[in-house]
Amino acid sequence: MRALWIFTGVTLNQWDVIIIGAGAAGLMAAVVAGQRGRSVLLLERANKAGKKILMSGGGRCNFTNLYVEPEHFLSANPHFCKSALSCYSQWDFIELVNRHGIPYHEKSLGQLFCDNSSRDILDMLLAEAEQVGVVLKTGSDIREVTSDEKFRVATTQGELQADSLVVACGGLSVPTLGGSDFGYRLARQFGHSVVPLRPALVPFTFTDGFKLLSEKLSGLSVPVRVSTGGKSFLENMLFTHRGLSGPAVLQVSSYWREEQMVKVDLLPNIDARQWLLELKTEQPKALLRTLLSQLLPRKLVRELEGLWWREHADRPLAELPDHLLVLVAGNLQGWSLKPAGTEGYRTAEVTLGGVDTREISSKTMESQRQPGLFFVGEVLDVTGHLGGFNFQWAWASGAAAGRVV
Ligand code: FDA
Repeated sequence: MRALWIFTGVTLNQWDVIIIGAGAAGLMAAVVAGQRGRSVLLLERANKAGKKILMSGGGRCNFTNLYVEPEHFLSANPHFCKSALSCYSQWDFIELVNRHGIPYHEKSLGQLFCDNSSRDILDMLLAEAEQVGVVLKTGSDIREVTSDEKFRVATTQGELQADSLVVACGGLSVPTLGGSDFGYRLARQFGHSVVPLRPALVPFTFTDGFKLLSEKLSGLSVPVRVSTGGKSFLENMLFTHRGLSGPAVLQVSSYWREEQMVKVDLLPNIDARQWLLELKTEQPKALLRTLLSQLLPRKLVRELEGLWWREHADRPLAELPDHLLVLVAGNLQGWSLKPAGTEGYRTAEVTLGGVDTREISSKTMESQRQPGLFFVGEVLDVTGHLGGFNFQWAWASGAAAGRVV
């Protein structure tokens, strides 16, 4: 029940649940709690809710994935995500999307995107929230959070109180879309540990000779296998002015650590060594660049030629020694690159690390240190692969808290 108390000149606004952050996880927590008849206040610092939802998936929101499995999530506590993901699955969210008549399609690898616009997803969540009486307050600046028998949230507009407090303020990624450290600070205030934070799903930057090459090839996208830290992803790689991006690179960035090499297999579907040695007998008069251009963009092949067989560029295959072909094949399938770094939180889709889940209930998202305090979404140390997994985590963890607050 919502009540406005006036007490000795101080306005105390009393709620069952206050949720900090009206992004994906906060909106879902609000909807589910509101459906249970709880009075819910959703506090958002920005001038509008769900900015990341709007910008996501290139404006079409990759809102979930058909193949959600725990293996698609990184965490220091890998089993943590299982319970919430199974209690609110991709099928639950798809059912909600269907109920609202939102058209969508599978792009690839089970990734579901809106046909029209990300706004469809945000409008759906806002409509659900409004229907159950959730109050959304944008432009809310929180100065302090304290707790005695209730949570007290001091904002520039007055003091608020609630029985439960849900921290849904996301991570550090993309400050212009709401990225902030507020959730981590709040977690530490209540005695929680934070698993070290890093930008993830983020492009690589280079400062060596490769930077010049990537500048020249900027805009070119090729299907490759990229590997680092024992993980590999078979998807597209995009050359950029600053280095490398594209789905394969974003995926592998979550596993990369400073000073590590990244391996790129430019011909992931063939045995390049065998292919080149066979071609030498089958097409002895052909040039290596002509043959490779059947499989890779000509512009890229020209640059690779400059790197790996420049002195032999105009000699037919028959005149190239086997050991050179084996060397070129090895480079094509194991191009070793050393990123100088990443583009950082400015463009990272997510923040790796976060509130240590070993101190959180996996069923309810409630703090084991402070009863009534909940953490949902990206602020937790659960990070999905690219492909709709991060939103599915936001929906699932938000719903888990919404069911009990
Ligand atoms: P989210 O960041 O969505 O929300 C947190 C909210 O809290 C923000 O509205 C913020 O303003 C607010 N806030 C922060 N501090 C506050 C404070 N002190 N007081 C009040 N409010 C505060 N994922 C995916 O699955 N599919 C996709 O297509 C994409 N695409 C994509 C594109 C881009 C450009 C980015 C940056 C990210 C994606 N993602 C994605 C990732 C996805 O957006 C992300 O994982 C979820 O939005 C996380 O949801 P949360 O609700 O946890 O945080």
